[in-house]
Amino acid sequence: MKKARVAVLCSGGGTNLQAIIDAEKSGIIKNGEVVLVLANTKKAYALERAENAGIEHAYYTKKMCGGQEAFEDKLIEVLDGHDIDLIVLAGFMAILSEKFTSHYPKRIINIHPSLIPSFCGEGFYGLKVHEAALAKGVKVTGATVHFVNEIPDGGEIIMQKAVNVRPGDTPEKLQLRVMKQAEWKIFPAAVEQVSAEIVKNKENA
Ligand code: GAR
Repeated sequence: MKKARVAVLCSGGGTNLQAIIDAEKSGIIKNGEVVLVLANTKKAYALERAENAGIEHAYYTKKMCGGQEAFEDKLIEVLDGHDIDLIVLAGFMAILSEKFTSHYPKRIINIHPSLIPSFCGEGFYGLKVHEAALAKGVKVTGATVHFVNEIPDGGEIIMQKAVNVRPGDTPEKLQLRVMKQAEWKIFPAAVEQVSAEIVKNKENA
């Protein structure tokens, strides 16, 4: 069986990338294979995780490429050059234009650390999401995996998992609980689900 070729795009620590790599090793992900890791900053620890796992990796910054459009063109060139079937945004902190997202309809997925439609859209990323959830006083938050389209965090929802907020939570504590209880579980599961769909469609094509 031919597997879906998966690229993971990151900007930071890459704990979600690690969860995906581990899920592939343990057989939770059977229909997808991570063949490429890209970052938009040299400093992303995710690049080291890719190196340790023996996965091809590279970084491109907007500055290196000469602006947003050239940056996206470079990503498209590299992704298409590697025959990528599925693009996984795992803490990728760069806005992608409609030109980019429409190039890969139902081929880009993202994880967001809240239950969409709460605490999402422009300006809501990383710790800011958990700060906003705590400021609002919600008792339940969670994570969402969704397809990516031109609307930030606006694409079709694939999977969600709820996580309880606890008295005395700080944004950092809540972030870690959401990662452990939700993100690191549903993201690999969603990668498998979408990869299986891609493989099935390819076989029927
Ligand atoms: C994760 O919590 C992810 O959900 C969030 O950034 C973190 C990346 O951590 N993404 C967003 O906020 C996107 N809007 P990681 O690099 O350790 O996977």
